[in-house]
Amino acid sequence: MARGLPRTVVLLALLLICLYQPDPSHATQASSKTRKLQGASPIDALRERYLQLERRAWTIVNQIDAVDNQLEQDASHQRATIMRELVDIYLRFAETELTPEDAGDYRLLGRLAEWHLLEQNLLTVNKLFEVVYAFLREKAPRFAEQADVEATDYGRSGRDDLRLLTIDLAETILFDKRQPIQQQLEEIYNIMVRQALYYRASMAASSVLCSFGLSPQQMLYMLYESIAMTELKGYIMMQFSYALLKVQGKGNFTEESQARRNELQTRMSRAQQLMQSVMRQTSGEYWRCDPERGTHRENTTYVQFTRLLQGYIENEVDMNTDNTCRETCDHYQYGHEQHQCYKELYCSKQPKCAGRIYDCEYIDSDMWICPAAPGSQRRYEYIEYENGEIRGRKQHCPRGTSKVDSWWRWLFWHCSYCFCLCDDAGRHSDRYVSLRESVSNIQQNRVVTGLRFVKRNQMLHLIVQQGQLLPGGDIANDTLEWVVPKPFMHTDTGVRNGVDYHTLSYERRAIDLDDVHVHPGYVLTGVRFRTLGSHLNLEIRMTEMNFTAGTLIDPNQSIWIGSEDADR
Ligand SMILES: *[C@@H]1O[C@H](CO)[C@@H](O)[C@H](O)[C@H]1NC(C)=O
Ligand SMILES: *[C@@H]1O[C@H](CO)[C@@H](O)[C@H](O)[C@H]1NC(C)=O
Ligand SMILES: *[C@@H]1O[C@H](CO)[C@@H](O)[C@H](O)[C@H]1NC(C)=O
Ligand SMILES: *[C@@H]1O[C@H](CO)[C@@H](O)[C@H](O)[C@H]1NC(C)=O
Ligand SMILES: *[C@@H]1O[C@H](CO)[C@@H](O)[C@H](O)[C@H]1NC(C)=O
Repeated sequence: MARGLPRTVVLLALLLICLYQPDPSHATQASSKTRKLQGASPIDALRERYLQLERRAWTIVNQIDAVDNQLEQDASHQRATIMRELVDIYLRFAETELTPEDAGDYRLLGRLAEWHLLEQNLLTVNKLFEVVYAFLREKAPRFAEQADVEATDYGRSGRDDLRLLTIDLAETILFDKRQPIQQQLEEIYNIMVRQALYYRASMAASSVLCSFGLSPQQMLYMLYESIAMTELKGYIMMQFSYALLKVQGKGNFTEESQARRNELQTRMSRAQQLMQSVMRQTSGEYWRCDPERGTHRENTTYVQFTRLLQGYIENEVDMNTDNTCRETCDHYQYGHEQHQCYKELYCSKQPKCAGRIYDCEYIDSDMWICPAAPGSQRRYEYIEYENGEIRGRKQHCPRGTSKVDSWWRWLFWHCSYCFCLCDDAGRHSDRYVSLRESVSNIQQNRVVTGLRFVKRNQMLHLIVQQGQLLPGGDIANDTLEWVVPKPFMHTDTGVRNGVDYHTLSYERRAIDLDDVHVHPGYVLTGVRFRTLGSHLNLEIRMTEMNFTAGTLIDPNQSIWIGSEDADR
């Protein structure tokens, strides 16, 4: 049997987090080599969009400064108008850009002892955000209504109600004694960044490599997104609260608002720096766990080569041309053949090994052999030697066992039955590996998202799963599909050994276990095997991408690469 399958293939080196660039001119100064890597992750882009909106919100809110020396009636009408616009801006942002009930994905943190330090903070922020969202949704019509009616005594008490409610909400967010949001955010930041919990999370992700169905980098990235999202929600609530209080005439709050904004920038750029350095040390490898014991299913969880090197009982008298027994089993190590069937002994009762014979050993003189059913991949069910040793699993033998005894010739030479390996590329031996490529459709912006082996017509194919690349390294998961190989037979005309396929044999059955990595800025878009000497060796195709736009750049420039130290 070949000794294994390519151990790791790095799928998508998509997880790039780039520093938020407040000054766009920085981006254009970057060298052309890294230029294509520029781009914000979705959460960073979202924060950018929010900050733009916030500038607009504050411009509106600051109109209140001009209101103070107006008549009371005019002033309260102005207030109502500003409130309506403010509520409208925040409600629309929440509805179109945020998922209010989404409390983030903290599966990875759940595995760390430090989780309980953070859990409460994260929950508090997310819960409170749900309250704010509900407030916006429910009260927006009333704010609109109030802005519409002329300021009269009519509806005055209702207005006061809403005013008190608004102030109460803002003060809870900002000044609650037990859990002010600012302090929650500070604590989250301290634990994740100052105490470098991201590092520990990275180690935790690596130690549970196969159980989430994600690479450690992806796990870490999801964690980052969840936390950044929670922080953004907390920040939005504080800004909204300052704005509310200011409109309600409870103070100026320009400085507080600016201070929070500065804190956000500082925290985010530190967190991003840390993430980038943690990401560099975190593996992008993706593993599927083995199935539970007893749940392996052929052609579903694995495929097998069949009858490649098969146990084979043969008497030494048949393995040389002059019918002698002068050697021992150990003599027959490499590339022998069955030359005849001496006296029609056990050799006449079993299918001949029509290929080469290797690695013979002597186990015991006499034995019982239980043959396998004719359609089976096996040759024998089991062999029981007289000394008690058993090869295979002894069970009921429906076709009956044969007694097979070695013999002495003239008391000098022992004609032993040996236990050997038979390498016979007969029609029941599935031992071919396709050398044709399996690639994603780069014209349609598809990248490789998974790999598997399938067997068709005795031929093993390594095939890719493809999916559509989206901005920020996302994949449209409803586009995922396996690229079905075009099956062919090793016997088809025009199909050549060593070009279209590789034939495994005793000498040509090694598969290299190299790591092959795509270069930074590229994504995986295809795989194929080549033969390197007698080895099978993996090559990958990579295509450059525009991370921000989520597009493959010039598909014609795709590059095939193999392992740089492929001589193992
Ligand atoms: C990537 O795509 C964005 C958006 O389409 C574009 O502005 C940018 O110039 C592209 N970058 C490169 C290096 O092509
Ligand atoms: C609020 O504070 C800002 C900055 O300190 C100042 O420019 C502005 O005039 C203040 N507004 C009022 C109404 O005091
Ligand atoms: C797996 O597929 C091969 C053909 O490729 C077939 O001969 C074999 O019976 C299948 N095994 C199972 C368990 O279905
Ligand atoms: C795609 O992702 C969504 C949300 O994560 C999930 O509910 C859905 O099952 C996924 N679809 C596929 C085909 O994986
Ligand atoms: C890529 O190659 C194809 C055919 O080889 C050609 O038609 C197409 O114009 C090329 N595209 C680019 C972007 O060079």
